[in-house]
Amino acid sequence: MNHYKLPEQRDFEHRIAGKNTHLITLENSRGVVVALSDFGARIVSLLVPDKYGTPTDVVLGFSHIQDYLTADEQYHGVTVGRFANRIANGRFTIDGETFYIEPNNGPNALHGGAAGFHKRVWDRRVVYKEKADFYYVAADGEEGFPGKLSVMVKYRLTDNNELVITYRAQTDKPTVINLTNHAYFNLNGEGNGDVLNHRLQIQATNYLPVDEFQIPAGVPAPVEDTPFDFRTPKLIGQDIRYADDQLAKGNGGYDHNYILDTEVLAKKLPVATAVSPTTGISLDVLTTEPGLQFYTGNFLSGKDVGKRGQPYGKHGAFCLETQHFPDSPNQPDFPTTLLMPGEVFQSETIYRFSIVK
Ligand code: GLA
Repeated sequence: MNHYKLPEQRDFEHRIAGKNTHLITLENSRGVVVALSDFGARIVSLLVPDKYGTPTDVVLGFSHIQDYLTADEQYHGVTVGRFANRIANGRFTIDGETFYIEPNNGPNALHGGAAGFHKRVWDRRVVYKEKADFYYVAADGEEGFPGKLSVMVKYRLTDNNELVITYRAQTDKPTVINLTNHAYFNLNGEGNGDVLNHRLQIQATNYLPVDEFQIPAGVPAPVEDTPFDFRTPKLIGQDIRYADDQLAKGNGGYDHNYILDTEVLAKKLPVATAVSPTTGISLDVLTTEPGLQFYTGNFLSGKDVGKRGQPYGKHGAFCLETQHFPDSPNQPDFPTTLLMPGEVFQSETIYRFSIVK
């Protein structure tokens, strides 16, 4: 199998909807390299030295921009918006006015609609090797959402092996917002089979069970005595094939939002940690968001072939998407996702890498 290498810049130079696209690389003093594209303000590659010092690409993706246009829409590494995750029936109401987002996931609107932020070419401002800021202005009514929304997503790579992602947004009319990153991680290295051998911990006592359309149904449920309990580290594969109604509703795996424990959030401690026993690479996730969608790539079908020519099959990666809870605009008991004119939306997520020997 080929070694991991960064995609070529020229293979990401293209024109989409009248705008030029680029590949931007950040690099720290410890050998971590991140490649980003302004198409979807997305992560393309993330090279992390493994326990032997070998650079290992820990995210799924493609080596040509064209592949992102033709692949199955799996949201590889993208910035998801204006509203990450599902809105039931694509409908919600603000101040008595109903808004409609064309359903693109059964009856639901998923990830901001068919032409959400992941399909847009963002403007960029880069500080050589260190940070990349992406800007996008979503029009009032774009994909059905109210309000002209100015969004900024900043990626910064620190010498502590942290990829810090900061979000900021402002609107001119009341709107709803939920932003996340949809990186597919495989800490064994992208294309190296499934992630069932990873050890995972999630600091959540409760999660949100879903209905048949993957909309949170009813009240949060304790993870205790269910396959959803990751409070003590366990292998992702340990319970994934358990005969469980919720795992079935997740299409044969995890695809659920965890309610992160507030004490852990308040102390700014990692809300989740994943470790690969083969590379020793460990990923900590830190966030200001209240929820975490844990998704085990249940829709990866093997149809898409990645950066080193390997097919991306079921459970070939996991996502830890920090966010507000799915369908919040229709669920009054959830923390609000309303953004009003004059307010500034702010959110931060850190993906931090280290080696466990
Ligand atoms: C999210 C959803 C999944 C799936 C992926 C993209 O993680 O929760 O159900 O739609 O995005 O394929």
